[in-house]
Amino acid sequence: MVTGSGRCDLVLRDVSFPDGRVADISVRGGKVCHVGAGYPSFQEISCRGKTVLPGAIDMHVHMRGRSQKEKEDWGSGTRSALAGGVTVVVDQPNTIPPLTTPASFRERVREARESSLCHFAINAGAEEGMDVGTLWREGPIAFGEIFTAPSSYGTGIRPGALAGVLRSVALLGGLCTIHAESPGEGRDVDLLAHNAIRSAGGEAAAVSWVRQVNSYPCRLHFCHLSSAEAVMSAGNDTVEVTPHHLLLSLDDFSPSDPHGKVNPPLRTATVREELWSVWERIDVLASDHAPHTCREKDQAFPDAPSGVPGVETMIPLCLAACRKRHIPVTTLVEKTCWNPARILGIPKAGYSTGERADFAIYPPGETPVRGDELHSRAGWSPFEGMPAVFPDIVIMGGDIVYREGDFFPGRPQWFMGRGYIGETQRRNGADTARP
Ligand code: DOR
Ligand code: ZN
Repeated sequence: MVTGSGRCDLVLRDVSFPDGRVADISVRGGKVCHVGAGYPSFQEISCRGKTVLPGAIDMHVHMRGRSQKEKEDWGSGTRSALAGGVTVVVDQPNTIPPLTTPASFRERVREARESSLCHFAINAGAEEGMDVGTLWREGPIAFGEIFTAPSSYGTGIRPGALAGVLRSVALLGGLCTIHAESPGEGRDVDLLAHNAIRSAGGEAAAVSWVRQVNSYPCRLHFCHLSSAEAVMSAGNDTVEVTPHHLLLSLDDFSPSDPHGKVNPPLRTATVREELWSVWERIDVLASDHAPHTCREKDQAFPDAPSGVPGVETMIPLCLAACRKRHIPVTTLVEKTCWNPARILGIPKAGYSTGERADFAIYPPGETPVRGDELHSRAGWSPFEGMPAVFPDIVIMGGDIVYREGDFFPGRPQWFMGRGYIGETQRRNGADTARP
């Protein structure tokens, strides 16, 4: 709170709320301290005529780094995130080496602490015979994505092993996130074959199979589902969908073009359109930002890696799509801010007093996506030329961290999982951080 003649740090002036109300948002100490008439402040931003959204959590990104830093690293990946209105990224564990040991997880946290420009959380991997409890104490926010079948840098887990991991994580009260696919046979020579081999039916079957194996049960989240059929087979577990499965289909690329190669694959235009029909059932939109270089994507189809970059374009493309389809922007905020926060246990960013003061301010107009202007090392985008609304200003913890192409230092935080035990507690013999 602001007392006496004290000033707050920042006021967002004339913010239009999703319900039509207009008010000022005052910020102090990294949090919203008042909503109404703005307090006296050291800094003001006029938001008249703009869309002000809470900073997004992208709960599915691959920040690469280490031997893969040509594709991306924490610096380039989080610049890309901020320039797209994302203030929290959740890194996936299929790194080289994978994040399945306490040592590799700890090293990943060190890398992120050193170079991330935005807030972050990190997932741990899961493999047969691993010590789930020890890894849990390092602070992963979730286990997964756990692969039911091999994908880029991800090894498929054996059914028996999966049941064991789900049980161990359930006993800790944790969350497992699942990459559900069940590929069939065939020669993976182009986008049509890729879609047929790693079919939407196989994906839905894998979702059902994982739910059956999950007998204890563990809390589950299904990553990047590519069809309405798969979404509807997830029962009451949470589901995530990507902008590429909502906005692209395989016929947007020439059949042998690996730039459209991703797991799960791009589907037909009909399947893509059906995915919009279950918009209300979708808990989370995440990008599955999986950058590969132009050189890697220029190889012959069977040799090129799967994955597309997307952290910077997720909100800009979805905001433009919501405007075009007359979808309430609040539903976009639920799927990219509030639901991921609830699912992962990250403090909420939003428009109310006490919430994390992460915001992105978007102009009324649209600009086309230009891959070579994005900040990812990938240097290309599968959404080239599509209409998007990029933020002018991004605020993280009350600090302006991005303004019209320029980045400013902020105070990135690590959102660790509930199991985390710090060095001090460890020395004092603590067994769990938070019961
Ligand atoms: O296409 C994909 N690429 N799907 C995944 O599950 C992994 C990702 C990657 O890391 O490249
Ligand atoms: Zn995946």
